[in-house]
Amino acid sequence: MTVPNPQPPNPQPPNPQPSDSRPPDFEPPNSELPDSEVPSGEVLLEVTDLKVHFPIKRGVIVDRTVGYVYAVDGVDLSIRRGETYGLVGESGCGKSTLGRAILRLNEPTAGSVVFDGTDVARLKGEQLRRARRRMQMIFQDPMSSLDPRQSVESILVEGMHAHGLDRDPEATARRLRELLSAVGLPESSLRKYPHEFSGGQRQRIGIARALAVEPDLIVADEPVSALDVSVQAQVVNLLEELQDELGLTYVVIAHDLAVVQHISDRIGVMYLGALVEETSSAELYENPLHPYTRALLSAIPVPDPVVEDSREQILLAGDLPSPANPPTGCRFHTRCPWRQATLCDTDRPQLREIGAGHRVACHYAEDIRDGRIQPHKVEPELVEAGAVNPDSGPPDVGSVTEIL
Ligand SMILES: Nc1ncnc2c1ncn2[C@@H]1O[C@H](COP(=O)(O)OP(=O)(O)OP(=O)(O)O)[C@@H](O)[C@H]1O
Ligand code: SF4
Ligand SMILES: [Mg+2]
Repeated sequence: MTVPNPQPPNPQPPNPQPSDSRPPDFEPPNSELPDSEVPSGEVLLEVTDLKVHFPIKRGVIVDRTVGYVYAVDGVDLSIRRGETYGLVGESGCGKSTLGRAILRLNEPTAGSVVFDGTDVARLKGEQLRRARRRMQMIFQDPMSSLDPRQSVESILVEGMHAHGLDRDPEATARRLRELLSAVGLPESSLRKYPHEFSGGQRQRIGIARALAVEPDLIVADEPVSALDVSVQAQVVNLLEELQDELGLTYVVIAHDLAVVQHISDRIGVMYLGALVEETSSAELYENPLHPYTRALLSAIPVPDPVVEDSREQILLAGDLPSPANPPTGCRFHTRCPWRQATLCDTDRPQLREIGAGHRVACHYAEDIRDGRIQPHKVEPELVEAGAVNPDSGPPDVGSVTEIL
């Protein structure tokens, strides 16, 4: 059995060409990403060593910070213009926090988010507001994300107004008609309120609201999870059509690999605050390398009963450990059927390239791939309560700022 060498350093932001719409305080990132990790096409979003740690406060009179929830704990990813990047992982692994941190709706504790050449984490005031117009979010639950007291017209105009895009009443009316037509809703919808629509229609309103301000990047957080299966495909198809028409770039978040398989060019699999595998959608399904990805894929039923009965099924022992007290070493070692003594328990594997554009965070990825080590039974481990990051001491963070 071979143990791979320690990991390469984290990828750094490339030095993209400035765009006309960049804020005046534009500061070009100064280092380069290795060629092998850059997808073809212009990079629109570059996330480097991003961390979001939420302080846990206790105290009756004075709040004390007694620990941290390590919701996002060192994520590197790079998304090219026009690409759809699927982000999957089980509930609580930090997908939404990562999506929100990209739009700076959650304040990053550390790391950088470079969007079209500008580090969003360093923007303030008007510059941040202008950058936000170009990055929009579609939320999981269209009912709770739409104000029930606002008509559809008011919901759509609100964002346009905030960004000074509604100066001419005629042009605004034309734009509203275009938006409704783009998402397949009749013009009469403008006078209605969210409760008058079905779940699928409400999600269309959420999409129209995001499109109203002409974004480049849309982070869609579980955009179809709350919808009936019959409506899910319609909304996914709509997102794809809009992307073709408008050249949008998507980050699509889902806890279900089957949902992102169809729509994504590349997929990142997240576990306890970090990516454990990233590759093209086709490669992930044909050749999953990380034990956690293999387990996720083996949980998707196959329609053919013969294949279903004969295929490898990996049942994970235990629940997702608390992000307030993540396991030492490899975050997945408490549940991993391929865990090896003692490296898995002591050293945190970094994401490293194993094939072209295929990155995996596992010390033994090659041995698992080539069958040199075999899975074994895993006894569920109890992780004690607490909030100690095994990799470092408590970070110096302020309280969580909700910006929405
Ligand atoms: N504002 C917050 N303050 C403290 N902890 C938070 C906050 N937001 C999220 N968390 C915690 O961070 C962790 C990651 O949460 P997040 O919502 O990002 O997960 P998720 O992968 O989107 O899960 P789901 O699939 O259920 O939506 C969870 O343990 C959650 O409780
Ligand atoms: S590093 Fe070890 S524990 Fe982690 S996924 Fe690989 S084999 Fe499993
Ligand atoms: Mg979520």
